[in-house]
Amino acid sequence: MQKPEFNQWLLAEIGRSPTAFHLTANIRDLLTDHGFTLLEETGPWQVAAPGSYVLVRNGSSLIAFTLDGEDPARSGLRMAGAHTDSPALKVKPNPLQVSHTCVRVGVEVYGGALLAPWFDRDLSLAGRVSWETETGGLGSGLLDFARPVAVIPSLAIHLDREANRKRSINSQTDIIPILLQATPGDACPVFNDILLARLRHQYPDLDCRAILDHELFFYDPAPPVLTGLEGEFITGPRLDNQLSCWTIARALVDAPERKNSMIILSDHEEVGSGSPEGAGGPLLDSILECLFPEPQQRQQVIRRSLLISADNAHGVHPNFTDRHDTNHLPLINRGPVIKINAARRYATTALTSGFFRLLCRRRNTEVQEFVMRSDMACGSTIGPLTATRTGMQVVDVGVPTLAMHSIREMAGSADCHGMHRVLQEYFSLATDDPLWHGWQS
Ligand code: CO
Repeated sequence: MQKPEFNQWLLAEIGRSPTAFHLTANIRDLLTDHGFTLLEETGPWQVAAPGSYVLVRNGSSLIAFTLDGEDPARSGLRMAGAHTDSPALKVKPNPLQVSHTCVRVGVEVYGGALLAPWFDRDLSLAGRVSWETETGGLGSGLLDFARPVAVIPSLAIHLDREANRKRSINSQTDIIPILLQATPGDACPVFNDILLARLRHQYPDLDCRAILDHELFFYDPAPPVLTGLEGEFITGPRLDNQLSCWTIARALVDAPERKNSMIILSDHEEVGSGSPEGAGGPLLDSILECLFPEPQQRQQVIRRSLLISADNAHGVHPNFTDRHDTNHLPLINRGPVIKINAARRYATTALTSGFFRLLCRRRNTEVQEFVMRSDMACGSTIGPLTATRTGMQVVDVGVPTLAMHSIREMAGSADCHGMHRVLQEYFSLATDDPLWHGWQS
């Protein structure tokens, strides 16, 4: 795909994926539409090589792989990973509260969200709900209001003259979205009734007696857009890390000669990855065990496999350049960033980064480096967790981003397309290519 077509596709896909659940379902459909066979974790597998397969756990994490017929114990797997979740405001179990005719929705902060940008936004609401069926069974599905339904108004500056100098945000009391207005004296509406009405609108044949529970997130329904005078930039919600998820999945589909390869997209990175479907959990281990049940063969596969872990990187902000090390200033639209950290908050080694540099050079894509200032704490990602759990070699990379963890983030319109080309090259690397396996120590 050419850059304009790729960007148009990418922005549309992010726009219609408001939560990790929706993202995972949409990427599953992309893959099955391109010939991947859907596997159920609960059933016995019929995995034949050559073939391409996808499976989903918890509706929010996904693994897809291609077996080309060559022995993976000899070839290894060309692997790429990213996370499906993004920071957001998550609805509490019993959320509704009335204050001065405003019906508000109590929320918890999911992940390390930058809270100030959530004020004065048109917000929508989406996620997963469970329900009781007419026969007493358990049902579940995705819900999305898909239009602005709530807002968190700022306090006027006239009522807080110090707002521009020192306004802080209390996550319990200050960021409660307003959903509707109630008539004084009326009882508080029932949240599950509101959800049921929306669900019946979405699914006219719904078999549902009553809503049971929900995992719902407020989100920005304004679509991602190209911006900058020449269309140099992308702004939009959830760029961290849907940019990587979509780019990886698309590269797998588009790779001209897809070799033995695997992608893993995991939920819950923003809250530490500790869950059955998170990168700190057993998902990847259990799939590798099912695919390669013989322990020695499995170890050979792991030792010969490499994971490109893609998660957005901090581009240098022109207004705050002192937050970066002066020799490591990733620029927007100057290519993917290799992330390096002495304390192993990133799993990159000299060999895995060398591999990635040469891979990018093959597609004439520039590469940059990021290292956190030595006097600031470094974030982390799924790379080190996967490396530690499986013993796999990893390179941590990502496209340079500004406003990371804001409700709208900013990246470059050339960087994802560059990454898409590089990953296609990666998934197509022949086993006897001198570049592949060079990273093995
Ligand atoms: Co991230």
